[in-house]
Amino acid sequence: MFEQLSPLAGDPILRLIGMYRDDPRADKIDVGVGVFRTATGETPIMKAVREAEQRLHDSQTTKTYVGIAGDPIFDDAMIDLVFADSTDKSRICAVQAPGGSGALRITADMLHKTMPNKTIWVSDPTWGNHTPIFEAAGFTVKKYPYLNPETKMVDEEKVLSALSKLGTDDIVLFHGCCHNPTGSDLSPAAWDKIADIINQRGFLPFIDLAYQGLGKGLDEDLYGTRKLASSVSDLVVTSSCSKNFGLYRDRVGCAMIVCQNKQVADITKSHLTIAARVAYSMPPDHGAAIVANIMTDPALRTMWENELTEMRERVLGLRQMLTDKMADITNTDDWAFINEHRGMFSLLCLDKEQTDTLINKHSIYIVNGGRINIAGLKDEAQVERFAQCLAEVT
Ligand code: LMR
Repeated sequence: MFEQLSPLAGDPILRLIGMYRDDPRADKIDVGVGVFRTATGETPIMKAVREAEQRLHDSQTTKTYVGIAGDPIFDDAMIDLVFADSTDKSRICAVQAPGGSGALRITADMLHKTMPNKTIWVSDPTWGNHTPIFEAAGFTVKKYPYLNPETKMVDEEKVLSALSKLGTDDIVLFHGCCHNPTGSDLSPAAWDKIADIINQRGFLPFIDLAYQGLGKGLDEDLYGTRKLASSVSDLVVTSSCSKNFGLYRDRVGCAMIVCQNKQVADITKSHLTIAARVAYSMPPDHGAAIVANIMTDPALRTMWENELTEMRERVLGLRQMLTDKMADITNTDDWAFINEHRGMFSLLCLDKEQTDTLINKHSIYIVNGGRINIAGLKDEAQVERFAQCLAEVT
């Protein structure tokens, strides 16, 4: 039966992990997959996570099921972390999920089941897995303009104009912060206008939040999400703890839906939990239990926030360093946008020949289109080599 299948290329981002690992060249650089790295190239377990994990190990008495919606303490903690006091929390339902991707998938399944004729609009470009997830759930996916390839920044006028043409048959996916792949986020002023457009046009906003705390700060990164929560009647949010808690392989995420009132939120949650039940029955517990422990213990929470601040500052420092090197090498400010971007990524808008040359000739592993994970640059020497090679291919 299976001999009729032809091989698939695999995910273009995740494929880079194996290519980098198998490259014997000593000076190789990995700016591919979006994981945080230290100056020695490690992705460490955060100290707060270690401590919470130890406490769990010592106190956990059972491995029985936690339930389809996961741990209610985790779900409540995620609602607090994401929404703070922007809206009445009784309007929000939450379901723990296996990573941000799991949260996206169960939400997409639930939305398609309950509103199958809507079209989902994603930014052009967006994370490579968004469209496949929504298409797998059955949706038609279309793109709204986002990046201005000249400035490498979001073209807010074009975004707002495209959104002004949508209506109640549409769902619009936004990146809450640290836009993946571009690194260019919507300004607070644009979010304010988006809230008005939603109220005029009636489309459903959906915010994917995979990098809270890695852009400008835990609260600053949530301006758009909280603005919409406080001003529109319905809002979908999926959140990931992979990056900001460093819990990548433990698969921790949360699907949250803001509804008109508590009664609607309770009904909506029943649909979301059925979507989870048919997809994987119940979420993994371990990572979410760690997050719940950290969020409910003031000392652990402070420890985590301090570590997250260090991570964010490392990325911001690398941005400045790379921008300065490019200015020195090219004698232009053509690369100043790198310092304007936020989060782990910058999209350099390179063509295939340029990225192939970086990979094959210079052993620099970079995603199609020239997306770089800034945190993959270990130290000043790597920033220097990367900048030299980038200047050469461009
Ligand atoms: C990325 O964009 O590199 C990360 O979100 C990892 C992934 O799953 O693609």
